[in-house]
Amino acid sequence: PLPTRFAVPLPIPKTAVPVRPGHYEVVQRAAKVEIIPGTTTEIWGYDGIFPGPTFELRRGGRTVIRVRNELPVPTSTHLHGGVNPPDSDGYPTDLVVAEGRAFHPAHSDHHDLSQWTLHQGAKDYVYPLEQRAATLWYHDHRMDFTAPQVWRGLAGFVLVRDDEDDALPLPKGGRDLPVMICDRAFEEDGSFRYPALDPSLLVRPGVEEDFMEGVEGDVILVNGAPWPFLDVDAARYRLRLLNASNARRYRLRLTPGGRFVQVGSDQGLLAAPVVHDAITVAPGERFDVIVDFSAYPIGTEVTMVNALGVGGAGDVMRFRVRRRAADDSAIPRRLSSVEPVAAAVATRAFDFRRTGQGGADSWTINGQPFRPGHPLARPRLGTTEVWRLTSDFHHPVHVHLAAFQVLSRNGRPPAPTDAGWKDTVDVRPYEVVDVLVRFAGYRGRYLMHCHNLEHEDMAMMAEFELI
Ligand code: C2O
Ligand code: CU
Repeated sequence: PLPTRFAVPLPIPKTAVPVRPGHYEVVQRAAKVEIIPGTTTEIWGYDGIFPGPTFELRRGGRTVIRVRNELPVPTSTHLHGGVNPPDSDGYPTDLVVAEGRAFHPAHSDHHDLSQWTLHQGAKDYVYPLEQRAATLWYHDHRMDFTAPQVWRGLAGFVLVRDDEDDALPLPKGGRDLPVMICDRAFEEDGSFRYPALDPSLLVRPGVEEDFMEGVEGDVILVNGAPWPFLDVDAARYRLRLLNASNARRYRLRLTPGGRFVQVGSDQGLLAAPVVHDAITVAPGERFDVIVDFSAYPIGTEVTMVNALGVGGAGDVMRFRVRRRAADDSAIPRRLSSVEPVAAAVATRAFDFRRTGQGGADSWTINGQPFRPGHPLARPRLGTTEVWRLTSDFHHPVHVHLAAFQVLSRNGRPPAPTDAGWKDTVDVRPYEVVDVLVRFAGYRGRYLMHCHNLEHEDMAMMAEFELI
């Protein structure tokens, strides 16, 4: 039986504490936690919690995170939205294996052993953080096994802060909340249900044939709790919405009515706020929004629903407006100065499509399955390009390292929810989405891929090399 909705308080993940200034250590390990009241779920979590600890970091504050792996499987940690050197970007074949454990990548289709790097025990990820304040997230990125490993809990927030964002009168402290939304399915005994072909996640990748389109669950978790509630003041709150689901898209609304005032996107502040009645969030995307609960009478229960979901998947969480309270926050008309972008020097096309028949079926980009070491593009550092994204299905396209702006959808102006600097864009079936990508940061090899994690594991990923 599914748990009662709106009965569990919204958890707020703990904030990571540095071991010394600029240095953190986090351990990936299995833990038993209570997600569905009265049952126990074994999760794989950073520090044994799901979501993992929130890293509160500052722009320009170079940070080293030592990730120690004590799991039975290899891992690779990617900071989604991070502008990081290639050896700290969490390349899928750059793996950490637990101390004393062997791992042989040769079982896979990817026999080119020169592409694999194994770190025994732990790896130091170096994040220079020369980037704007933004809501980022970190998650596993292991070759062929990202989807089941994220499903088990390997995901958490990184909040980058800076002076520009701090100086705005937006809600702060306990009224500035990370909100990680993801769906999961559970067995009777409380364990996660996932249709992996090899539940050990050691040998054979992939999911059962019926799940080619991606794996969805019938329980919606927010910060790891099923359909939670939060008691709020009649005041403004900043909600950093993240869709961390493997495959599910949400169309978020407030009932009995209400609006989201969007102040930021994947890569930080918008130039000016944008008001939405509903927000469609694809896997990997973030929306930084303000909700003003003073617009409701005390005692109102404001439910965030998912207009794309049926049954339980149609509900997300509930806010209970408890008390009047002082609120000195405001939403300024101007939020940030968005720098002009240089003219594009090239246009490239990337087509996201299912190819092959029967057993050979897979998800590809430009007809090619992911092959490490075989870049599909070689953009130049410091330039800007137009990337034209086309698809046969819903594919949330994520580009590592390089932020982009949506230029058009099917030749028409972008949607209001496309505003700002993004790193993930929801490409809908048979759409043509043009994005302007700015290549700043570091030379080396990076990824772009579909953030439907089952599609990603089924090879809908490509390398690009920044030269
Ligand atoms: Cu959030 Cu390459 O992914
Ligand atoms: Cu996809």
